[in-house]
Amino acid sequence: MKVLITGVAGFIGFSLAKKFLEEGYSIYGLDNYDSYYSVKLKKMRVNKLKKFKKFKFYNLDISNFKKLDQQIKKINFHYVYHFAAQPGVRYSLINPKKYITVNIFGFQNLLRVLEKKKIKAIIYASSSSVYGDQKKFPVSEKSSLKAKNPYGLSKIMNEEMAEIYSKILKIPIIGLRLFTVYGEWGRPDMYIIKLLNCIYKKKVFELNNAGNHYRDFTHISDVVNVCQNFLICKNKNKHEIFNVCSGKTINLNLLTNKIKKIYPQAKIKNISANNADVYKTYGDKSFLLSRYKIKKFKDIKYGLKKTVEWFEEKKINKFL
Ligand SMILES: NC(=O)c1ccc[n+]([C@@H]2O[C@H](COP(=O)([O-])OP(=O)(O)OC[C@H]3O[C@@H](n4cnc5c(N)ncnc54)[C@H](O)[C@@H]3O)[C@@H](O)[C@H]2O)c1
Repeated sequence: MKVLITGVAGFIGFSLAKKFLEEGYSIYGLDNYDSYYSVKLKKMRVNKLKKFKKFKFYNLDISNFKKLDQQIKKINFHYVYHFAAQPGVRYSLINPKKYITVNIFGFQNLLRVLEKKKIKAIIYASSSSVYGDQKKFPVSEKSSLKAKNPYGLSKIMNEEMAEIYSKILKIPIIGLRLFTVYGEWGRPDMYIIKLLNCIYKKKVFELNNAGNHYRDFTHISDVVNVCQNFLICKNKNKHEIFNVCSGKTINLNLLTNKIKKIYPQAKIKNISANNADVYKTYGDKSFLLSRYKIKKFKDIKYGLKKTVEWFEEKKINKFL
C-alpha cells in the first residue's frame, strides 16, 4: 500500500506516517517546514520517519501549484491523507491571509493536482472549529456551522470544496472534524505542551478566561486509529464528514489543577478570554462509531500520563 501524507512534519501527519511505516506501508511525505512553531521539532519528527526505508520526504509548499504538480506527477499512491495546513485559532486573527493561502488555495491546488491521478480515496483534516459557539451539546455532524475565526472559516471552505471535488474526481473524500488532538509529539502552541514547556522553562503560563473553557480532548492514538479505518472506505464515491472526538469534555481549570498536582511549581496567571476561542467543544461521535469499528477512546488520565512521560523522556523543552 502506498500513501501520500501532506503535513508529514506536523503532529498528526507524522503520527499517522509512523504508524503506517511500522505496519509496512510505503509513505510519500510532503511538508514545507513552515515556521509557525519549532522547525527543530518538525525536523526531529521527519528524521525519525527517515529511519524507515519505505519513507520518502518532499520539501514542498502546497500553495505553489506548479511545483506541487511537477512532483506529484512523478509518484504513484493509492490514498491521500491531507494534514498540511496553517493551524491555530488565535493566530488566524493575527494573520488571516495565511489561512486563505495555505488552507483554502493549498487544498484547492492539491485537489486539482489529484484530478490527474488514479487514487482510491482522499482523507482530509477539517476541525471542530467549524461549529463555533454552540448552545446544544454534544455537537453532531448535523449541527449548524458558525465559525468564530478565520481558521474555522477556512475549514468550512475546505468542506465545501471537498463536496465539489468528490463529484469531479468520483472518489470517496472524507472530512475529519478533529477535536483538540493532544499527546506524544504534540503541538507546542496548544494548551498541554505549552503549559509543560512553561513549567520546564520556569515561565509563567497565561491561562485565558481563568480556565473557564471546556475542551473535548482527543488522544493522538485514537486519531491515528480512526484514520487507518478509512483505508477500508465504506462511503462509495461521495463526500462524508465525521466528528473525531473522545465524546467527553473537560474544564481547563480542572485539567490545569491535575497538571499542577504533578508539577506543584507551575506558575499560572489568569488573563482575559481570547476573542478567537470558543467556550466549549464537546462532540458526538456516534456517526463515526455506527460506520467503522473503532476501539474505545482513551481517557484524559491515560493521555496526559503518556504526554508527560514523552515530554520528560525526550526533554522536548530544549527543542521549543
Ligand atoms: N491538532 C489539533 O488539535 C487539530 C484539531 C483540528 C484540526 N486539526 C487540523 O489537522 C491538520 C494537522 O494539524 P496538526 O495539529 O498536525 O498541525 P501541524 O502544524 O503540526 O501540522 C501541519 C503541517 O503542515 C505543514 N505546512 C504548513 N503550511 C504548509 C504548506 N504551505 N505546504 C506544505 N506544508 C505545510 C507544517 O509545516 C506542519 O508540519 C491541520 O489541518 C489542522 O488544522 C488539528
